[in-house]
Amino acid sequence: MTDAIRPLIAGNWKMNGLKSSLAEFEAMLAGASDVADKADLLVCPPATLIASFAERARGSKSLRVGAQDCHAKPSGAHTGDLSAEMLADAGASAIIVGHSERRANHGETDVEVRQKAEAVWRAGLTAIVCIGETQHQRDQGQTLDICRGQLNISLPDGARSDNLVVAYEPVWAIGTGLTPTAWDVEQIHGFIRELLIARFKGEGARIRILYGGSVKPSNAAELMAVANVNGALVGGASLKAADFLAIARGCP
Ligand code: PGA
Repeated sequence: MTDAIRPLIAGNWKMNGLKSSLAEFEAMLAGASDVADKADLLVCPPATLIASFAERARGSKSLRVGAQDCHAKPSGAHTGDLSAEMLADAGASAIIVGHSERRANHGETDVEVRQKAEAVWRAGLTAIVCIGETQHQRDQGQTLDICRGQLNISLPDGARSDNLVVAYEPVWAIGTGLTPTAWDVEQIHGFIRELLIARFKGEGARIRILYGGSVKPSNAAELMAVANVNGALVGGASLKAADFLAIARGCP
């Protein structure tokens, strides 16, 4: 059933990118149609670049622009924060919430992640909810328990395949060059799929589950071929158009 899910390759630029990065983004845009038979593309630049990128991508069917985080409230006295409504207004079509760097650096809890996901929906956008275990948790054999706990609390009720994407990102694999084996990824994504179906029934069978953590052109084909891997959330390798597009070409 999951074979019919169209892959999504999402680039998370993190705190990288200046106005001068528009050329790299335009190269992605120019190459997007060549990989349109393989995957949808999403680029999540820093918030300062969303509006200009979205303006350039307007009308593109295969490449959209997203954001990396949002506040749970629509507006108010929250200096420095951005609401989902503001990001939608700037042209974002999806927002990453609960990235492990937000959880670690800003102490975001599962409850806050759920509130942010609800805010993303309130603004009419797709929430990309990140989960994943740390090295220590993995060493303790807690990977599945951690993922179940994060999913149970971080995902709001009412998830559908068109408003939610789950990204499984083992924290120890992010930015390290390390990746789990294809067998590990298959076990964990299969487990996540079961949980999504148990909770969201038929929609749960169609919600995309992305793998994230050191995805590169050299390992994309192997990882993207794993059952229940419906695309990738890519950090470092999403900054260069050639690498980002090569990852998309690796989709089955
Ligand atoms: P990475 O980051 O591809 O650089 O490991 C992935 C992520 O944090 O989403």
